[in-house]
Amino acid sequence: MQAELIKRLFKAVSKGSDTELLFSCKKIIESERQKGHSVLAASLEKILESRDISKGSTKNLAKLPTSRRHNDPLVVVMSREELRHHMILNADVDSRFTRVEKEFAARDRLAKFGFSYKKKVLLYGPPGCGKTLGAERLAWNTGLPLIKVRFDAMISSYFGESASNLRNIFDTVKDVPSLLFLDECDFIAKSRNISNDVGEIPRIVNTLLQLLDDYNAPGLLVAATNLDKMLDKAIFRRFDDVFEVPMPTYMENLQLLKTTLAAVKTQDNLNWKDMASKLVGMSAANVVKVAQNAAKTAILEGNKVVRQMDLELALNEMYLKDQQGDLFHAT
Ligand SMILES: Nc1ncnc2c1ncn2[C@@H]1O[C@H](COP(=O)(O)OP(=O)(O)O)[C@@H](O)[C@H]1O
Ligand SMILES: [Mg+2]
Repeated sequence: MQAELIKRLFKAVSKGSDTELLFSCKKIIESERQKGHSVLAASLEKILESRDISKGSTKNLAKLPTSRRHNDPLVVVMSREELRHHMILNADVDSRFTRVEKEFAARDRLAKFGFSYKKKVLLYGPPGCGKTLGAERLAWNTGLPLIKVRFDAMISSYFGESASNLRNIFDTVKDVPSLLFLDECDFIAKSRNISNDVGEIPRIVNTLLQLLDDYNAPGLLVAATNLDKMLDKAIFRRFDDVFEVPMPTYMENLQLLKTTLAAVKTQDNLNWKDMASKLVGMSAANVVKVAQNAAKTAILEGNKVVRQMDLELALNEMYLKDQQGDLFHAT
């Protein structure tokens, strides 16, 4: 390939411009054809034609609704650059996520046999253990733009408006392959218990349950809730997969500590195993925080390494904070 073409391709990648990428690819095809490589050119062309339009573009999402009362967006669209996707999970949970990703990737193949991929997934589990992160990971690995529904803004929108706003959102994703993320929707899990309430919440719940039943968009729908005991059969039934994102165990703590401290030097004889077991019972978010706080202390004090003592101190501070009334497992 000529140097100019390669350069153009690299520039398009570094700019993240789909149009320029496409343009460069077309130039490459043209150049290969001119060189007489017609079989290669034809096969490259075929690859381009079959490209997945779901990847990347979020332009069609401009019509997503905002709350009339506060002019507050009811949804947040996260670009690929904003997505975090490195997670530490036990193998079982990791394979549940991977399965969803694999089914999405093989959706056309599955459809040929009359099967549908797992479209609607419910994640549950204690706060701070990776439900939100998991949704971002799913978006990253499927290449779908992540559209996060903000129920807080929705509930405070004009009375009676929330249901129609929710319908608008579901309508929009009918045409745009995306990962619709219903974060912190504990209220649907509790729906049965609040069905006698009046006001905006039961209205949203009813609409949402209906929309969930009807959802058949080309992307994925992921919902997350902190509740588990409240989940009843009526909720389970509406999802193609429901799984827990649990508290990290000793093994995950070990990895969480090591990855969080990967960029700093640590004491040679640091007893990682001891620290990891002392952190059992904490959310992943808090384990990460303990490690970060220890590293920050070392930096602020001008120490060359993060010591076991720094981690112990950070851990004690976390316990203290808990005793002062903060939820130990909260993010
Ligand atoms: N499984 C995990 N692997 C790595 N980091 C995690 C994990 N779970 C949580 N974290 C850390 O904790 C933070 C909060 O996690 P989050 O996904 O928002 O929790 P949840 O949505 O379950 O309350 C994340 O930003 C990340 O730093
Ligand atoms: Mg969350």
